[in-house]
Amino acid sequence: MLDMNPIYERSRTAIVRPARSGDGEAVRAIRNHAVEHSTALWTHAVQSPAQGTAWLAAHLERGSAFVAEVGGEVAGFAVYGPWRELDGYRHTVEDSVYVSEDRQGLGIGSALLAALIASAREAGHHVMIAGIEAGNSGSIRLHERFGFHHAGTVREVGTKFGRWLDLTIMRLPLS
Ligand SMILES: CC(C)(COP(=O)(O)OP(=O)(O)OC[C@H]1O[C@@H](n2cnc3c(N)ncnc32)[C@H](O)[C@@H]1OP(=O)(O)O)[C@@H](O)C(=O)NCCC(=O)NCCS
Repeated sequence: MLDMNPIYERSRTAIVRPARSGDGEAVRAIRNHAVEHSTALWTHAVQSPAQGTAWLAAHLERGSAFVAEVGGEVAGFAVYGPWRELDGYRHTVEDSVYVSEDRQGLGIGSALLAALIASAREAGHHVMIAGIEAGNSGSIRLHERFGFHHAGTVREVGTKFGRWLDLTIMRLPLS
């Protein structure tokens, strides 16, 4: 029962559902905002409409993308994909969760991550990894809340906005 969980209670106006191709532009806008204004994504390269469509299409094929809708508008998205490309890593996936800036802190990220974890479990994956900029306390708290454990922090492996970035790895067993 979703309403018994306080996190879902706070996000009761959000509906989480599998993403569709028609969500491409809304997802791209949320992702590009994070690229331009935050260290959540370690790149300055915003996606063009064509790149956004191709990026989402890969997730739609796998069934590994979800969106949260509030009042009919996409307010956030979550995806999982291969953690690393070599086939020996095939039972491990990495998640990404993004909520539009004006809707953060309302439980939407939690609702998205819950759906993502359930979907990855159902698909038979073994471990979910989150790679988070070490100073991103919101994302670290979100993942802790779902049982992810800190697997370590790798110092100064990225750079953006003229400074070094540390990567915190968090791990959730799925099976
Ligand atoms: C990180 C993010 C996905 C969390 O989603 P959200 O909808 O804001 O989070 P929720 O409202 O579901 O809150 C989940 C938990 O995180 C905590 N949290 C959320 N934002 C926080 C912040 N800025 N600082 C500290 N804790 C925060 C909440 O308090 C809650 O913990 P609690 O249950 O102990 O109170 C969202 O803030 C976001 O999109 N941030 C920008 C992009 C990003 O950093 N994505 C993750 C990349 S790894």
